[in-house]
Amino acid sequence: MTSQELKDIFSGSLFEGEVKFAEPMSNHTSLRMGGPADVYAIPRDALSLINISLNLKKNHLPFFPLGGGTNVLVRDGGMEGVVLSTRLFRKMKSLQEDNASVLVSVDAGALLLQLVSFARENGYSGIEGLAGIPGTVGGAIFGNAGAFGYEIKDVLTAVQIMDAEGGIKTLTADAINFGYRSTDILPGSVILSAEMKLMKDKEKSVAARVENFLRMKRERQPLWEPSAGCVFKNPPGESAGKLIDAAECKGVRIGDVEVSTVHANFFINRGRAKASDFIRLMDVVAHRVKKRYGVILEPEIKITGIDEGAD
Ligand code: EPU
Repeated sequence: MTSQELKDIFSGSLFEGEVKFAEPMSNHTSLRMGGPADVYAIPRDALSLINISLNLKKNHLPFFPLGGGTNVLVRDGGMEGVVLSTRLFRKMKSLQEDNASVLVSVDAGALLLQLVSFARENGYSGIEGLAGIPGTVGGAIFGNAGAFGYEIKDVLTAVQIMDAEGGIKTLTADAINFGYRSTDILPGSVILSAEMKLMKDKEKSVAARVENFLRMKRERQPLWEPSAGCVFKNPPGESAGKLIDAAECKGVRIGDVEVSTVHANFFINRGRAKASDFIRLMDVVAHRVKKRYGVILEPEIKITGIDEGAD
């Protein structure tokens, strides 16, 4: 499909928002890596997203929802098709409350950071442990983000999605199968919004817990460097970071990708890193851990896109 044909699809789709062609994904990922997406579009609202998705479907063009881009590695050849960013969907509000709890509605593109601040300012408890996790609420739900024993699934009551056929559905949280850093929400679906139940508490108590978790994170994780958070999942009963550290991988570098010397399960972009080097470093680290400890590390980050030079 030519870029003119793609432009025509956007102009004929009741689409409102921003559209960029051949847009480097390094501009939209926390790792600052990744080749160009054929199209990178930021719909103004959910209706625009639904309209364009239906049209892309009709034209057999693949599309990929993207939240904050904080848990993905895009290969150097970029992404074929259309990346749809949910970052303009940011509304959040309390829907109803009783003495003990409050039901909050939040759009998928809201930053987790904003949601945690909203909860903190209102004295709502249940997501304090998610403080300091970058990215959007939609991405956090898709990967069941968590830390310090908190997981986003624990507060969710419902999730609104557009499924792969373009149908809008509200799934109750107990109908979704959440696992450790995973859900059974299919990759072809787009998370649009969610509802969550938070418990009422004293503002001061919520703030103190948030501060405490943030302090621990700052001490243990290189939050200020370009990374995608933990690269590998923790194997059952183990910590991937501890194993990688014990296998003496801290500071190991390929090209401009380096195993963090602060937390070994974070890989840092030291300049103009390539995704191919990131993947090679993952192989080296996984191989060393397997050789020394017999443990197989599974990626936590989502790897997508095509290799450079691939057709
Ligand atoms: N450790 C080392 N060396 C390191 C890193 C860790 O020895 O380089 C040791 C620590 O000293 C500690 C143990 O390993 O004894 C566990 O470390 P930590 O408390 O940092 O937790 P983690 O298991 O490495 C998990 C999550 C993090 C989450 C933290 C805090 C995964 C893969 N990681 O890390 O989540 O922030 O707990 O709850 O589940 C993420 O998912 O991207 C992520 C960063």
